[in-house]
Amino acid sequence: MATLWSLFVVVVAYLQLARAISSNSGRQIVQDLSAQLSSGSEVILASDASYANNFTQRFSVSRPPSFSVAVKPVSAVDVRQVVQYALRTNVSILATGGGHGYTWSLGRHRGGIDIDLSNFNTIKIDSAANTMTVGGSVRSQDVAAALQAAGKELPVGLCMCVGYTGYTLGGGIGPYSGLYGTAADNLISAEIITGQGELLTVSDKSRSDLFYGLKGAGFNYGIVTSLKFRVHPATNSGQTIVTNMIFPGYLNGTVFELIKSFFGPNQPKELGIALSVGYNEAMGGMVVIIGFVYAGSEKASTELLRPFFDLNPINPQVLDVPTDQVPRVIVYGATLSGCNKNTQFVPYTVNLYKVDVPNLIKVVEYMKSEVEANPELGHVIVTWTQYASAGFKKFADGSAAFPYRDPTVFVQINAYAPSAEMVPVISDYAGRLRERFQRGSGRSRLETYVHFAHGDETHEAMYSTRKLLSLSVLKAVYDPRGLFSWYNPLPALRY
Ligand SMILES: Cc1cc2nc3c(=O)[nH]c(=O)nc-3n(C[C@H](O)[C@H](O)[C@H](O)COP(=O)(O)OP(=O)(O)OC[C@H]3O[C@@H](n4cnc5c(N)ncnc54)[C@H](O)[C@@H]3O)c2cc1C
Ligand SMILES: *[C@@H]1O[C@H](CO)[C@@H](O)[C@H](O)[C@H]1NC(C)=O
Ligand SMILES: *[C@@H]1O[C@H](CO)[C@@H](O)[C@H](O)[C@H]1NC(C)=O
Ligand SMILES: *[C@@H]1O[C@H](CO)[C@@H](O)[C@H](O)[C@H]1NC(C)=O
Repeated sequence: MATLWSLFVVVVAYLQLARAISSNSGRQIVQDLSAQLSSGSEVILASDASYANNFTQRFSVSRPPSFSVAVKPVSAVDVRQVVQYALRTNVSILATGGGHGYTWSLGRHRGGIDIDLSNFNTIKIDSAANTMTVGGSVRSQDVAAALQAAGKELPVGLCMCVGYTGYTLGGGIGPYSGLYGTAADNLISAEIITGQGELLTVSDKSRSDLFYGLKGAGFNYGIVTSLKFRVHPATNSGQTIVTNMIFPGYLNGTVFELIKSFFGPNQPKELGIALSVGYNEAMGGMVVIIGFVYAGSEKASTELLRPFFDLNPINPQVLDVPTDQVPRVIVYGATLSGCNKNTQFVPYTVNLYKVDVPNLIKVVEYMKSEVEANPELGHVIVTWTQYASAGFKKFADGSAAFPYRDPTVFVQINAYAPSAEMVPVISDYAGRLRERFQRGSGRSRLETYVHFAHGDETHEAMYSTRKLLSLSVLKAVYDPRGLFSWYNPLPALRY
C-alpha cells in the first residue's frame, strides 16, 4: 500500500513537472500564479511593457539576470506560494529587493520568475524598545531617514538606493560599523521563506543555525520578508562630520603612510575612511580623494585629521550634517551615481589586511601608465573603505556568517563602462589591478567581501575557509534544491 502510494506521488509530481516543462511558457506560469496568489498581487510576463515601469529595475545591466515572468506578492504567504510553485515545477526564481546586486554571477539566471519584493517596504521603529522592523525591499535612504527622525542609528552603507535587507543579508558595512559592527550583527530576528518552502521566524532562540547563516550569507537560504533590528540612540545628537579632501598624485605615498597610521588598532571607532584613486585629466593626472566620516564633534574630527590638513589638500570641505545625509556629501557626492539604473557596472574587489605602502605606490604608478596609454581605462576608479574594527570585534566570529572582523580595507576596483562594448577591455584591466592589489594584501590568496565580489572568486574567498563547510551544510538543509544559487552562491554539497 505504502509503495503504491509513493508511486502515485511520484507519478503526480512527474506529470506536474512534465506539464510545466512542456508548456515551457511564461503564460502558463502567469495563469497558475494568478490563480494562487492573494488579490492585490501582480503577475505579468517580463516581456510586458509594464515591466519596466512597474517593477524594480536594476542598477547594473552588465551581466543581468533575465526573467520570463515577474510577480509582486503582497504577503509572506504569497511568497511561500511562489517558492512552493518553483519547487513543484522546477521553474527558477530570483528575489529582487533594491535591485543593486551587481555580481556577474547573477547573469546565470535565465527565464524563470522575478519575485519583486516592492510591497515589503514598511519601516517601523519602536523608540522605547530600541527596535526597528523593516520589509524585504526597503531602501537605505528610507531606513536612514526613519532612524534620523527617531534619534536612532545603525550602520548604513554609502549608497542611498541599495536595498537595506539585501545589504544586511551579506553583512552590511557602513561608516558606523566602527561603533556597531555589521548591520547583520544588530539583528534580533528574521522572517524567511526557505528553500524548503517553509515560512519561519528565526532568531538566537529559534533555528539559531539558520539565523547565523542569514548574517552574511543570507541570500543562499531563502527570501526574507522582514527583519527586526536592535537600534542605538544617535551619537552626537544625530550629526556627523564629513571631511573631504583631494591630493595630487605625487603625494600618494605620503597619503598612504598617513592612512596606514590609522589602520588597525590606531583607527578610532568614530572614524570611517572612504578613499578613491583615479585619473583626472582636469586635475593633472592621478588624484587621491578622501572622505572622512566622524561620529563626534567637528573640533575632535579636525584635530584627528590635522596631519592630512597639514599636507595642504585641494578644496578641503568640513561639513556638519545630519547622519542620514552622509551618503549625499561624502567624497563630494561621488556615490550619488550609485542610484542610477541600467549602468554597465564592472565590479572587482580585494580585501587588504595591511597597508603595504610600497605596493600601493607601484599600483598607482601602474594605473597612471595604463591610463596614459589607453584613456578609456580612466573609467576605472579604485575605492578604499576602511572602518574601525572595534565595532566588528564586539561580536564573536562564531556569532554570524560574516567573516571579516579583523582590521580590513575593502578595496573596490569598479567602473561605469560608457557602453556594453567597452565592458571587456575595462574588465580585463580591472582584473589586473585586483591581482596587483592582492600582492600587498597580507594574504596569499584572494579574499573578498561577498557583496563587492565580481563572481569569479572561489567560495573560500567569499565565505572564508573557516566557515565554508558549516554554511554549505546549512544550505543543504534549508535550500536542498538550490533554488537560491544565483548570487555568489555557496556550493551544493553532494552526499
Ligand atoms: C553603488 C553601490 C554602493 C554600495 N555600497 C555598499 C556599502 O557601503 N556597504 C555594503 O555593505 N554594501 C554596499 N553595496 C552592496 C549592496 O549591499 C549589495 O549590492 C546588495 O546585494 C544590494 O541589495 P539589493 O536588495 O539592492 O539588491 P538585489 O539585486 O535586489 O539583491 C541582491 C541579492 O540579494 C537577494 N535579496 C535581496 N533582497 C532579498 C530579500 N529580502 N530576501 C532574500 N534575498 C534577497 C537577491 O535575490 C539577490 O540575489 C553597494 C552597492 C552599490 C550598487
Ligand atoms: C503599471 O503599468 C501600466 C502600463 O505601463 C500603467 O498603466 C499602470 O498605471 C501601472 N501601475 C502601477 C501600479 O504603477
Ligand atoms: C530542474 O532544472 C534544472 C535547470 O533549470 C535542471 O538542471 C534539472 O535537471 C531540473 N530538474 C528536474 C527534476 O527536472
Ligand atoms: C606616488 O608616490 C611616490 C612616492 O611618494 C612617487 O614616487 C610617485 O611618483 C607617486 N605617483 C604618482 C602617480 O605621482
